[in-house]
Amino acid sequence: MTIKVLDEKVISQIAAGEVVERPASVVKELLENALDAGSTQISIEIKNGGISLIRVSDDGTGIPEKETDIAFERHSTSKIDSLLDLQHISSLGFRGEALPSIAAVAQVQMSTYFSGEATGTCVSLDNGQLISHDFQSRSPGTTITVSNLFRKIPARLKFLKSENTEGSRISEIVSQYTLAFPEVRYNLISDGKTILRTPGSGKLLDSAIAVYGNETAQNMLEIKNIPESWIAQLIK
Ligand SMILES: Nc1ncnc2c1ncn2[C@@H]1O[C@H](COP(=O)(O)OP(=O)(O)OP(=O)(O)O)[C@@H](O)[C@H]1O
Ligand SMILES: [Mg+2]
Repeated sequence: MTIKVLDEKVISQIAAGEVVERPASVVKELLENALDAGSTQISIEIKNGGISLIRVSDDGTGIPEKETDIAFERHSTSKIDSLLDLQHISSLGFRGEALPSIAAVAQVQMSTYFSGEATGTCVSLDNGQLISHDFQSRSPGTTITVSNLFRKIPARLKFLKSENTEGSRISEIVSQYTLAFPEVRYNLISDGKTILRTPGSGKLLDSAIAVYGNETAQNMLEIKNIPESWIAQLIK
């Protein structure tokens, strides 16, 4: 075969594969975006292990109407500007790859409201194509719904495990973020049932109770002010 540059559609599908391996990767990316937007409450709803539906709603900053379409273009981000910024990243995301990657392999609907604007915006995309861009009133924040992940890519769909396994991976990811950011209130609903809920009190113990249960959490030992040399040893 001769060497040639691939067409844009193939390039974006390959790039999407690096970001979106399974439903839990979608949840991770949407959670990180919600956290970067300064949310205090994040609700995650999934159906069939996230394969048929993932919906993440937050009460963060929202996205200004004129930026809603560009948010789904590759390498578009509000989090860095220059090469120099790469040395001081304080956000969880910065590549400008997550939303376009998710949109390349699923149907996506986003509704968002940026405080101070006259109205909110709702955009829909189907496997990378912008389908609609409408005005919609809503409270400040963003809701992203991802439906039918990999439906048009049977090879990727076949690689997924059972709905239960995919759902457990989502639950694991959400649990990790509840422990890392206990000041945020989370609610994870799977097939209509709440499976994880945290109070957002800012206390790590409250998140640990929600994730591991009261008995296990109460038996945990809190270690404060760990010397950096210990951490270096643990990481080794
Ligand atoms: N929930 C959200 N609330 C507010 N803004 C958002 C939200 N999700 C996405 N955005 C905006 O859309 C942009 C693109 O999101 P995307 O996740 O693709 O890229 P990123 O977060 O900048 O980098 P990365 O690809 O590393 O996640 C973000 O930079 C941010 O400005
Ligand atoms: Mg992101």
